[in-house]
Amino acid sequence: MTDAALAKAIAQVDAVLAGQMRAPQVKGFFDEPTFTISYVVSDAATKKAAIIDSVWDFDQASGRTSFESADAIIDYVREQGLTVEWILETHAHADHLSAAPYLQEQLGGKMSIGREILTVQGVFGKIFNEGTEFARDGSQFDQLLEDGDELMIGEIPLTAMHVPGHTPADMAYVIGDALFTGDTMFMPDYGSARADFPGGDARMLYRSVRRLMKLPDETRVFLCHDYKAPNRDQYVWETTVLAERTSNVHLHDGVSEDEFVAMRTQRDATLAMPKLILPSLQVNIRGGRLPPPEDNGVRYLKLPLDVL
Ligand SMILES: [Fe+2]
Repeated sequence: MTDAALAKAIAQVDAVLAGQMRAPQVKGFFDEPTFTISYVVSDAATKKAAIIDSVWDFDQASGRTSFESADAIIDYVREQGLTVEWILETHAHADHLSAAPYLQEQLGGKMSIGREILTVQGVFGKIFNEGTEFARDGSQFDQLLEDGDELMIGEIPLTAMHVPGHTPADMAYVIGDALFTGDTMFMPDYGSARADFPGGDARMLYRSVRRLMKLPDETRVFLCHDYKAPNRDQYVWETTVLAERTSNVHLHDGVSEDEFVAMRTQRDATLAMPKLILPSLQVNIRGGRLPPPEDNGVRYLKLPLDVL
């Protein structure tokens, strides 16, 4: 079976390695409360940029939202004189709210996510008992991406890859020689994403990661999260395909699908739900927007009991 998206992504990385294409500039923004890394990826020659996986700060105890994290991105974009063309999500995150609509309002750009977000909207639309005002057709985004779709960041191509497993809708983005993995693999010493949320599937996650690991060894790999790891004191979010292939504790070359599924399933059974899963999904299935206000003008989030 030919894999057109993978072939396109490999050709792109090879072109950068051969000096035939510019590598993108990558700037990471780490949000320690949610261990998330947001990225601004830019083409130095054209000053065009994409933002990947932004964070909208949320204090659950008070129900207060704020924009420190997004404002740091906006400051950087303005300082560098960048034009934002794309505001991308790798998936509907369960651990933080997305600031995509705020960034779009301030900086422009088109909001995009994987087409399978429709599945996630269906599942969580039911869980939150959303009414008909909640469209489950992905219309909250400007463009829905499929495996193999190509976008341009200035003169540097982006190839979208559908990498389900953590959720049904996960996408990875290969921009020049840089892979943005979303929640598939993490740093080699930490391993892989969990696969036990509604719609998650450890077997699919294994296949998705093995596919990403077919990219050239020198591919730069940028992670969506880092939690440190035993014997490591610093947060780190960049590695290479070679390092992942040879030393990822869950997914190095030689780990079989069944071994991975057994390990992942056992480990997931011990994990608590992420602190912000209920607020995050209610907002992120709307593309990072709150539910409509009630008749007193206040917006509310729901806490479904005994459902997750
Ligand atoms: Fe996630």
